[in-house]
Amino acid sequence: MQGTLRQRVVFLSRFSQFVRKQALARAPLRGAAIASLMVMSGCAGVQSALDPSGAEAKQIATLFWVMVAGGAAIWLAVIGTLLYAARWKGEPHSAQVAGQLIVWGGAVFPAIILVALLGYALWLMPSLRPQSAKPPVWPLRIEVTGEQFWWRVSYRAENRLGPIASANEIRLPLGQRVEFVLKSSDVIHSFWIPSLGGKMDMIPGRTNHLSLLATKAGMFRGPCTEFCGTSHALMAFSAVVMEPAAFDAWLEAQSQPAEELTGDGRLRFVSNGCGSCHTVRGTEATGTLGPDLTHLGSRETLAAGILPNTEEAIRRFIAEPDIIKPGSKMPSFRMLPEDDLQAIASYLKGLK
Ligand code: CUA
Repeated sequence: MQGTLRQRVVFLSRFSQFVRKQALARAPLRGAAIASLMVMSGCAGVQSALDPSGAEAKQIATLFWVMVAGGAAIWLAVIGTLLYAARWKGEPHSAQVAGQLIVWGGAVFPAIILVALLGYALWLMPSLRPQSAKPPVWPLRIEVTGEQFWWRVSYRAENRLGPIASANEIRLPLGQRVEFVLKSSDVIHSFWIPSLGGKMDMIPGRTNHLSLLATKAGMFRGPCTEFCGTSHALMAFSAVVMEPAAFDAWLEAQSQPAEELTGDGRLRFVSNGCGSCHTVRGTEATGTLGPDLTHLGSRETLAAGILPNTEEAIRRFIAEPDIIKPGSKMPSFRMLPEDDLQAIASYLKGLK
């Protein structure tokens, strides 16, 4: 027993020495590789705060790089002083010089850098501060409500009557300031389109405001950024920035009821009770518990940014939402006959 224990201890200590040697030998290379991969992965794409496509995002990205430069200046000064003390400085400093080094290097220099960074951030703040606008100050107001686990969206444009309901996709005109009104119906969610601007929480019983100005057309992604339950990581939306004329045409189309389609998909949709949770404007489906499906077929993604918007994905989601999005309030309809599922999916995909 004793021998076994000693053997084990010896083995473990040799093994840990081996691991340490390996780690030390390769650490710089591996560290550099991991660091550069991490840095590069955040630099571009549809969801990157470092690849700004909006006025607010640009300010935030600039603030980030200024902070990095300030931090790098302090780091270089500290490392330089360390190398100077360890390598080049032979005998110790006199007490007076040492005191001065501590005062200037340890207090005055960092204080100047930090005060400068604070001043810059404070100067930026007013333009990033959410607008609490009542009545609306911008021609377009988009109300987004966080739900478990999707986004209820409604557009209110100055020149139109009534809000236009949609879900899980936000479209905005290029070069025009848009006001977001952010709410939650259940728990705290958080709204963030990193490419366009800062983040804002959606809090039950409270209305938050955010205003964004998109400066590049394209499709971006917004994730929910506050843990809100089982499918928090499956709660996203696409944000599409369009030329103003195209946006107006799109909003006009969205304000219309659903097109009348041939086939019996609509009948099957209604007779299976889908209309008690979902609205398809222009039909007898007027439920408001779930996402508005009036123009579902025209959206880029399905199920809050997690599936491609295809007929097959719609069929799968109707049959097994409990597997695709655990914890979602949509009941599964796997008991429906295959031709019902197919007809309903094809009807919904046709709602352009
Ligand atoms: Cu909604 Cu996390």
